[in-house]
Amino acid sequence: MVKREGNCHPAVRVSEHVYWVGAVDWDIRDFHGYATQRGSTYNAYLVIGEKTALVDTVKAPFVGEMLARISSVLPPEQVDYLVSNHAEMDHSGGLPEALAVIQPERAFASTHGVSALRDHFHLDREIAAVKDLESLDLGGVRLTFVEMRMLHWPDSMATYVAEDKALLSNDAFGMHLASSERFADELPEWLLDYEARKYYANILLPLSPLVAKAVERVAGLGIPIDTIAPSHGPIWREPAQIIGRYATWAAGARARKAVIVYDTMWGSTAKMALAIAQGLSESGVSVKVMPLKSSHRSDVALEVLDAAALIVGSPTLNNQLFPTVADVLTYLKGLKPRNLIGAAFGSHGWSGEAAKHAAEVLTGMKVELVGDPVNVRYVPDNEALRRCLELGREVARRITAAV
Ligand code: FEO
Repeated sequence: MVKREGNCHPAVRVSEHVYWVGAVDWDIRDFHGYATQRGSTYNAYLVIGEKTALVDTVKAPFVGEMLARISSVLPPEQVDYLVSNHAEMDHSGGLPEALAVIQPERAFASTHGVSALRDHFHLDREIAAVKDLESLDLGGVRLTFVEMRMLHWPDSMATYVAEDKALLSNDAFGMHLASSERFADELPEWLLDYEARKYYANILLPLSPLVAKAVERVAGLGIPIDTIAPSHGPIWREPAQIIGRYATWAAGARARKAVIVYDTMWGSTAKMALAIAQGLSESGVSVKVMPLKSSHRSDVALEVLDAAALIVGSPTLNNQLFPTVADVLTYLKGLKPRNLIGAAFGSHGWSGEAAKHAAEVLTGMKVELVGDPVNVRYVPDNEALRRCLELGREVARRITAAV
């Protein structure tokens, strides 16, 4: 039996018919490889007409908190319908327990969602498939389901509450941010920008072409939207704030900025990185130097989002890339950043394959390489550092011509 936590978790009214009944995760610091330094929320929403629907659930350990919030509005057993916008566990982990407690009359998901939920939970009850733009009348308020394929999985959809002009958008327009405030307009602009940007870079960047289409499609539906209520982070009561950012990021806008990401064994690759950085900055290009002993892969992704160049340095270890460099390159390759200029460099003792391997990965990412990899045996002398400085200057020239 799920523990009910009394009235200590009240629901938050979002609009006339919609309540936030989700959970705040102050503790999470790793979200499938993404460093969530400020935690997250799993937002579930109760939509109340003559009938009541719960839209999404929460990560499994937070079901008690969600049910307590529902209880602050009505007994959970009075919820008539359950809608799953997305099967990923941060939204559906609590679904089996919620179904068991609530026993809703019907449960709904997209066609892909039905099969994804089946393969996650092997449930013995029916989840009904809803089509794109199909509606569910709650009596006095109507839910319309809008396909949002690949935002973030093939099953993803949003639920639109027409009477409240509210789009319950699931992963789209979210951010990983635990806060006591539920609305974006209660939080500082710099924090919203940082966390929304980081979320986009780490979750949605590879799907940018689809994000652009989805934003266009929602705009083309002609449905008025006063509120965007995502499934992570704060709720937007001024949707233009986040829609405008998504349009910019999806378009792949680049700044006069380079990211140098590297690791080092005995300080030589670090010396090379700093010489390249000097060549860039003295040419008027902003540089972000990211040593991997102190930079998380998801922070590198954040910086790459609007950078024009990605320069990668690695010492050679046992004929290979240094492990941290291999990690960040694998991660970045999956995120498919577009239109980057790049270069590779590194120090080695006798074989020196790492810079070549880094260049190969960058080529696989369709990064336009500037010159051959710069290799240095053991410790760079003044001549080697001059070559690094010149590499920085050349990358700066290419950025200036492109941006
Ligand atoms: Fe927030 Fe794709 O799950």
